[in-house]
Amino acid sequence: MRLVLCESAAETGQAAAAIFAARIERGPCVLGLATGSSPLPVYRELIRRHREADLSFAECVAFTLDEYVGLQPVDARSYRATIRDEFVDHVDLPVAALHSPDAADPDPQALHRAATAYEETIRLAGGIDVQLLGIGANGHIGFNEPSSSLASRTRIKALTQQTREDNARFFGEDETVPKLCLTQGLGTIRDSRHAVLVAQGAKKADAVAAAVEGPVSAACPASVLQMHPHATVILDAAAASRLRNVDYYRHVQRLNDELGLLP
Ligand code: GLP
Repeated sequence: MRLVLCESAAETGQAAAAIFAARIERGPCVLGLATGSSPLPVYRELIRRHREADLSFAECVAFTLDEYVGLQPVDARSYRATIRDEFVDHVDLPVAALHSPDAADPDPQALHRAATAYEETIRLAGGIDVQLLGIGANGHIGFNEPSSSLASRTRIKALTQQTREDNARFFGEDETVPKLCLTQGLGTIRDSRHAVLVAQGAKKADAVAAAVEGPVSAACPASVLQMHPHATVILDAAAASRLRNVDYYRHVQRLNDELGLLP
């Protein structure tokens, strides 16, 4: 696991965007996209590079991590609509190349079928090359809440009350946040070739410390990244504030900067 310690949220976006841009410039690739506020600085920087530095997504395919059950893809509160609004519609990624779990039909059998189909579509695309991740305050990635199997695949999950409250800001006052979602599993995320987690702010500091320096445990789903062959964790100062081995991470970061060891 590589730690990248940044001063600001904007810097986390630049560091993560540089990883994505380097992969995209090498040729056609499959991107994993995440919703939430954490990836926004990354999208801002990728959009800037698209506009100002000719970074093209025309040859990319993209998969989102998760979706609320019962929301139509065109519903503004759906993660598909959100990712289009925040990123895809601002670059040249073809909309037909954007895949997201189809969770519109709440019938359990339909959801099981959609989850299986999503795994198959990822497999047929050749797997995800670079997967962007945020982290919930309870350590969730995608919508894999604590107790998620570290080997899980795309499936139905029940959201915790905390996650529903955290995400209530995207819903109107008289609207209820869905109780269920479809999410890529921790096994699906672990299969990505490069996982890039970004976190900003003190609210994430405990979850980040547990994920990076705690035991690998379903109690902190993001800790599965310790088992990932190529994971990069990019943090601003507040999100990194509960880490113990900061001096070592900075030392490695300096070595990398000097020697250009890692992408
Ligand atoms: C949601 C998403 C996650 C995201 C998390 C953190 O629940 N399903 O993918 O990482 O929230 O959100 P934020 O980045 O807004 O703090």
